[in-house]
Amino acid sequence: MLVTNETAYKTDLRGIDWTTMKSTLAGDNFDNGRTPEQLQTSFENSHTAVVACHGDSIVGTARVLSDGVCNAYVVDVWTLSQFRERGIARRMLEILESDLEGQHVCLFTDDAEPVFSALGFASQGGGMSKVVGTWLGRGA
Ligand SMILES: CC(C)(COP(=O)(O)OP(=O)(O)OC[C@H]1O[C@@H](n2cnc3c(N)ncnc32)[C@H](O)[C@@H]1OP(=O)(O)O)[C@@H](O)C(=O)NCCC(=O)NCCS
Repeated sequence: MLVTNETAYKTDLRGIDWTTMKSTLAGDNFDNGRTPEQLQTSFENSHTAVVACHGDSIVGTARVLSDGVCNAYVVDVWTLSQFRERGIARRMLEILESDLEGQHVCLFTDDAEPVFSALGFASQGGGMSKVVGTWLGRGA
């Protein structure tokens, strides 16, 4: 666990309160419908996940899916609104990337392109996606 400027960056997910994460994300308009149990499963099944904490509050998340060789996909990059623009997302991405040497890293963003440009990402045309069946249809 790394602590900078009173923000702790946790990659060991033991002790994370997933119900608090769910309510914090919902309160900050970044809830995509996962239950606390689904949040826990998706974070724990990631290659690396980071949860930024300020005291007892969850103030940031980021995680990466990776095959460990050549391809990685960054998801759930979020900083609590009142904690933005103080380097939390930059630090979370640095932590994720520290174990991705040599890999091609992708992400989707609706309106944060300037942020990810600042973090070294470049637009690449041809991105496509689909949901298989019903979103979150498999349950926890
Ligand atoms: C995108 C988001 C995660 C950025 O988090 P953050 O902690 O504020 O980002 P940082 O403070 O680490 O800033 C990272 C870089 O982006 C730049 N940046 C931050 N906010 C910016 C903005 N609104 N416009 C332009 N650049 C911005 C910073 O200047 C910094 O670059 P620098 O270090 O060269 O100065 C945050 O705005 C957020 O949670 N948005 C809603 C969720 C979202 O859209 N997530 C992305 C989709 S996965």
